[in-house]
Amino acid sequence: MPADSKSKTTILKLRRHKRTGEKSVLVTAYDYPQAMIADKAGVDAILVGDSCGMTTHGFKTTIPVTMDMMITHCEAVARGANDAFLIGDMPYMSYQESDELAVRNAGRFIVAGMDCVKVEGAMVDRVKAIADSGIMVMSHLGLTPHTRAKMGGYRVQGKTAKSAEVVLKQALALQEAGCSFLLLEAMPTEPAEMIAKELSIPVYGIGAGDKVDGQLVILHDLVGLFWEFKSKFVKRYCEAGQLIQSSLEQYRDEVKGGQFPAEENFYAIKEEELEKLLGDSSWKYEDLRVENQAKPNHSATPRTTKREK
Ligand code: KIV
Repeated sequence: MPADSKSKTTILKLRRHKRTGEKSVLVTAYDYPQAMIADKAGVDAILVGDSCGMTTHGFKTTIPVTMDMMITHCEAVARGANDAFLIGDMPYMSYQESDELAVRNAGRFIVAGMDCVKVEGAMVDRVKAIADSGIMVMSHLGLTPHTRAKMGGYRVQGKTAKSAEVVLKQALALQEAGCSFLLLEAMPTEPAEMIAKELSIPVYGIGAGDKVDGQLVILHDLVGLFWEFKSKFVKRYCEAGQLIQSSLEQYRDEVKGGQFPAEENFYAIKEEELEKLLGDSSWKYEDLRVENQAKPNHSATPRTTKREK
């Protein structure tokens, strides 16, 4: 296994951000080029989210995502990212059943190149079991997609004093159990800020306001590659989907119109080899011979060889 680069983001750097007030920047990525781009852009951490189920596989929810799918995505991301801290998202039913299963599956993420795993909900026992096994855990509270049916859908959490207090208590219990990071999804700014202040571990938000220790955004939302819905907390920085589509339209038009491929895209064959090919072949190459002679920069050597079957 290659040694970590000197500029690799570690938990120490992320903790330092919390101490100094520097915001940490997290984004999702699911494959090698996305990870390379995110890494080169200088994000602090990449989450290989089970949101890949929706962004990449076209499922309606994250529920059908399996461990094997996640491991394939994580391995690709780990090959593309040198410096970012890597978090693997444990998919539905990969940790809920028992501590043993949770630890075994968390281990698979580490073998796949992740630095940490993410677990949804107030799974205090599971988090403790994974943390005790030496694997860093990020807990995910607030809107937790695995239990969206129980929440009555994708709803903002912690909007009442009572429910915000529940999240705070869960957060404290998870920190106590040994989790290294907390992610809050879809919560009002103030309770998220209170939780970030109350906890000593870094607390990040996705749709949890600007007073937490860092932000996570789903890559496909950020660059315009996901169209099913757009959450209030998403800011779209570009329309990569439109750019790709117009490039494909141009490609289609150029192939149909004969502009692509062009001379600079061709591989050359040596003149004498072509002569041999034309001469020896028992196929008809009349068209090729005529085309070849008509080319302005082509060798003046006439190709006359044509052999009938
Ligand atoms: O899978 C994912 O990308 C996530 C975020 C929505 C937090 O869990």
